[in-house]
Amino acid sequence: MSEPVASGGEQTATELRLLWPDEAAAQATAEQLAAALLPTPDAVIELHGPLGAGKTTFTRLLLRALGITGRIKSPSYAVMESYELPGGGVASHFDFYRFGDPREWEDAGFRDVFAAPGLKVCEWPEKAAGQLPPPDLQLFIELLPDDSRRVRAVGARRLVEALS
Ligand SMILES: Nc1ncnc2c1ncn2[C@@H]1O[C@H](COP(=O)(O)OP(=O)(O)OP(=O)(O)O)[C@@H](O)[C@H]1O
Ligand SMILES: [Mg+2]
Repeated sequence: MSEPVASGGEQTATELRLLWPDEAAAQATAEQLAAALLPTPDAVIELHGPLGAGKTTFTRLLLRALGITGRIKSPSYAVMESYELPGGGVASHFDFYRFGDPREWEDAGFRDVFAAPGLKVCEWPEKAAGQLPPPDLQLFIELLPDDSRRVRAVGARRLVEALS
């Protein structure tokens, strides 16, 4: 939809702008990202954007594209929901909106999850900024008045370019 543009001085970091007129467009992006993550997804993905931007929706589309067929709950209350991937490995979906106490990071075992291989998709990563490792991909989702979404993807060249 637009060309990758190198951002900053970092050779591996790339930026791309996308437009999602509807959920089908978000699904296309999710499928492109899933293809780049497979066969053994191992990445930290941050989803930024206001309430209702579409972070949970995109995560569901991504997990579906990775082959998860069961119920995909919003992790709002549990903070984390984890899924076994059909091709092996684990995908963990976080919603840090209600995350406040840094001790919870240890107590809930999140340190171990982030230290192990697997896919980690994080909603509201700014609420756990002191704990999270550097992301491989960040999507900044902006909700426009006509209900479309403008998205800026920043991160590892291999992942960002997969979305173009
Ligand atoms: N790409 C999209 N195109 C059109 N509608 C969308 C899109 N993504 C999400 N929506 C709609 O917007 C609503 C909110 O989406 P969602 O719950 O995914 O937002 P969220 O960013 O996770 O919000 P929160 O910050 O509360 O967790 C849903 O009703 C969903 O149907
Ligand atoms: Mg959400």
